[in-house]
Amino acid sequence: MTDPLSTAAPNNTGGISLVRALVLVASLTSIVLVLWFLLVSQQDPYVKAVLKLNGSKEKGAMLFRMNCAGCHGINAQGLVGPDLRNVASSRRDSDLIRQVVSGKTPPMPSFEFEADGMADVLAYLHSLD
Ligand code: HEC
Repeated sequence: MTDPLSTAAPNNTGGISLVRALVLVASLTSIVLVLWFLLVSQQDPYVKAVLKLNGSKEKGAMLFRMNCAGCHGINAQGLVGPDLRNVASSRRDSDLIRQVVSGKTPPMPSFEFEADGMADVLAYLHSLD
């Protein structure tokens, strides 16, 4: 006698292993995502160093006039580059630092400020809010 359940059994196990495979893929994906997140959220040492310092907005204003005003305007009101007057309240400090040093948003060049110079520029950007 053929039992309908016995013919269903192989299909069932097939279904279960598919589910297992999917669960495995999902857990591997989440592990990878967690690792990626941990890596990304680790701040690089330069950003950390800058954030530890208390920059001077006066020095920052001088650096801004020499390096940035040509594109962002003498009062950061925007020219070729965007208006920066509210940028420090809308973007995180670590983003702003990366924006200035990374050179990843052409035509804005990358700048090689010492950590204290970068802290001064950051203080200046905050003073514009
Ligand atoms: C050659 C022109 C140029 C110079 C010089 C320049 N920038 Fe920029 N900057 C830009 C442009 C163009 C953008 C927009 C890039 C984009 O969003 O892809 C930008 C974007 C930015 C942003 C992000 C604005 C936002 O709304 O998110 C910040 C912050 C910034 N610049 C700061 C600076 C600082 C500080 C300096 C000087 C150290 C500087 N820039 C020098 C052209 C310039």
